[in-house]
Amino acid sequence: MNETSQPIELLLAVTRDSSQTLGAQIEDQLRRAIRDGTLRPGAGIPSTRDLARQITVSRQVVVDAYAQLAAEGYLQTRRGAGTTVATAGSRVRQQPHVSPFGQAVLHDLNPFRPALSGFPRAAWGAAIARVLRTVADERLGYPDPAGMPELRVTLAAYLGRVRGVRASAEQVVICTGTRQGLSLLWSVLATGGATRVAIERPGWRGVTETAHDAGLRTLELDVDEHGVRLERLLDERVDAIALAPAHQYPTGAVLSADRRGELVAWARSSGALIVEDDYDAEYRYDRQPIGSLQGLVPDQVAYGGSTSKTLAPAMRLGWLVLPQRLAADVIERQRRGGGMPAPLHQLALADLIERGELDRHLRRQRRRYARRREALLSELDRQLPRARVSGAAAGLYVLIELPVGVSEQAALVAARSRGIALEGGGGNSPALVIGYANLSDEAVGAAVHALAESVHEAADVGLTRARAVVADR
Ligand SMILES: Cc1ncc(COP(=O)(O)O)c(C=O)c1O
Repeated sequence: MNETSQPIELLLAVTRDSSQTLGAQIEDQLRRAIRDGTLRPGAGIPSTRDLARQITVSRQVVVDAYAQLAAEGYLQTRRGAGTTVATAGSRVRQQPHVSPFGQAVLHDLNPFRPALSGFPRAAWGAAIARVLRTVADERLGYPDPAGMPELRVTLAAYLGRVRGVRASAEQVVICTGTRQGLSLLWSVLATGGATRVAIERPGWRGVTETAHDAGLRTLELDVDEHGVRLERLLDERVDAIALAPAHQYPTGAVLSADRRGELVAWARSSGALIVEDDYDAEYRYDRQPIGSLQGLVPDQVAYGGSTSKTLAPAMRLGWLVLPQRLAADVIERQRRGGGMPAPLHQLALADLIERGELDRHLRRQRRRYARRREALLSELDRQLPRARVSGAAAGLYVLIELPVGVSEQAALVAARSRGIALEGGGGNSPALVIGYANLSDEAVGAAVHALAESVHEAADVGLTRARAVVADR
C-alpha cells in the first residue's frame, strides 16, 4: 500500500432520525467530500468493517454504500489495496444537462424524468455481470420478438403482485417503452380496420402522436377531477379508448370508482379496447395505489408500462400485456419492425426483479420523492401562494393552475429563458406541469424562486397587454 492510500480518518455522522436511509447518508457525505476535494484521488478509505464499527451500523449498509459509489466512479476497490478514492480518469463525468435547443437546464422541473442520480448503478451492473457470466452462447442469436421468456414470466408475476394485472407470460410482449408499445398496438388495430380512438384531453402527447402516425383519428374526451369524462362515448363510435386511470397526465386525476365501472360496462357492451397507460402507478403518497383496470377486465384491456419512471428513461425497456387475441399480431409486428430492447438487458431486468432489487430501489425512491414533494409543496405555498396546486397525491409531478390573467405560453417562455425545464398543461385553463423527481433536495427553493419570477414576469406581460387593449378603446 503506498503512502497516499493509507486509510484516513473519516468524519462521518449518521442518524436514525433522518428520513434518509443510513446508506444514503453515508453515500451523500462521501460524495460531497470527494467532490469538494476534502478526499483526494488516491486517498484510502476505511475498510467496510472499520467504518461500520466506527459509526455503529451494520457492515452490509457500508458494503452497499461503497458499491454504489464504486459504480458511480467515486471509489475504486482493488484486491489487496483496499478501497480508495478513484482517480479522475475513472470518475463518471457529470456533464451539464443541455436541452435539445441548446439552452442549459439550470432547474430541472421536467415532469417526465425520475431521479436520475438514484439509478441503482451497482445493482444494475451486478445484474448485467451475472447475465454475462451465465448466458449460454446459443442465446446470443436472434431473439424471440415477443421478448426473453425469463422477463415475460417475471413480469407477469410482478405486475400481478404490484398492480393486480391478470395475465400469463404468453400475453406479455417486451418493447422499448410505452411509446413503442402504443405504436405497435395502434398499427395492429388500424390494420384490423380500426379508424378512430378516444383519448384524454389534456393528455400525454405520446398517445396522440402514435395514434395519428398509425393513421387513426382521435376523439378528445375532457378530463375533470374524477378522471376522463365518458359521456361522449355513448353517441360516438370509437374502436378503443386510451387513458391513464391510475394517474392521469397532466391533471394527476385518479379515475373514480364510478367511472371505472362505467368504462368497464361500456367496453363490454361495445367490444372496444381499453388501452391502459400505467406509467407511474408505483408512486402514491396518501394510500395504496389503485389497482390496474386490466385486472378487472383482462380480455378487454391492452396494458402498457415501462421502466422509464421506476429506473430511468435511458433503459428503453417496457411491456404490453395483451388480450390473447391481439398478442400474436403485435408480436409479428414487433418481429417485422425489429425494434425490441437488447436481450441481455431484458435478462438483467428479470434478474433485478427476481432478486428483489427493484422493490428495494422503489422503497428508496418513494422516500426520496415523498421528501421532495413535501419540499416543493411548501416552497410553492410560500413563493407562489396564488397558484392552485393539484395532482400531488401520486406520481412525480404536480399541476399548477396559473393565476387569472397569466398566459401559459408567456409563463413557459419566461421559465425556459431562466433555464427551467418544465411542461405546459395544454388544457383549457393555463397551467404548468412541474416535476420534482430530478431536483436535489437543496435545489427545490431556488427552482421555485425562478419559477415564481417567471410567473410574475408573465403576469406583467398580461397586465401590459390588457392595459393596451383598454387604452385603445
Ligand atoms: C403519461 C405518460 N405515459 C407514458 C410515459 C412513458 O413513456 P415511455 O415508456 O415510452 O418512456 C410517460 C413519460 O413521461 C408519460 O408521461
